[in-house]
Amino acid sequence: MNLILFGAPGAGKGTQSSLLIERMGMTQISTGDLFRAAIKNKTDLGRKAQEFMDRGELVPDLIVIGMVEEVLNKSVKDFILDGFPRTVAQAEALDELLKKMNLSIGKAVFLEVPMSELMDRLTGRRVCRSCGAVYHVKSKPPKKDGICDLCGGEVYQRQDDKAEVIETRLKNYEEFTSPLKAFYKKAGKYVEVDGNRSTEDVFSDIRQIIA
Ligand code: AP5
Repeated sequence: MNLILFGAPGAGKGTQSSLLIERMGMTQISTGDLFRAAIKNKTDLGRKAQEFMDRGELVPDLIVIGMVEEVLNKSVKDFILDGFPRTVAQAEALDELLKKMNLSIGKAVFLEVPMSELMDRLTGRRVCRSCGAVYHVKSKPPKKDGICDLCGGEVYQRQDDKAEVIETRLKNYEEFTSPLKAFYKKAGKYVEVDGNRSTEDVFSDIRQIIA
């Protein structure tokens, strides 16, 4: 089944996607990760995206939609859309794209996490610069400070995980992404999962949804 995983910044989309890849063999399409890779590789796309990301703003719809279309054209299946769509315009464009490609989305899973918890998760998050593994200074620190357990890469804090940028991201989420709940309810695909529990409990719910 193809899945949309959505929710506020820090809700656990990336963490749950990693488990779905590892245990269910699914493929993740994360627009945030694609942009970060483009920035690392200093491509035109990366240069365009970086100015928006560093400020905590959304990258313009046309740029995001074009990038997702390219990935979907590579005939992926059993995919998780992580961080896309993020606006109603993106959701409508996705419907068009999928129709053209004869593909569909089974469920749009919303991870519900209270704002107070999101702030703590985001300010404490650390990420491996090489393999993208996700840590948290309190709940999931790497064994050796600043070094990734999995690949030995450098563990760093994302520029957009600084407190002042997080505020803008959360505001944009409320304004532009939160209306997707109504969009997917209307489409009969909306499922809500309580994301404010252990990663294993959250994963167990998602597994049941896609079973
Ligand atoms: P993106 O990378 O997608 O960021 P995001 O949506 O803000 O999501 P995050 O990666 O911050 O959080 P997450 O939900 O994946 O949480 P995680 O699992 O890491 O996008 C970045 C930027 O790119 C955007 O701001 C925008 O500029 C641009 N962009 C991307 N897509 C776009 C689009 N479609 N349109 C326009 N612009 C776009 O977990 C967070 C922390 O919490 C970790 O430390 C983790 O260990 C911890 N944690 C996770 N689960 C739990 C749990 N159950 N209990 C306790 N701790 C937990």
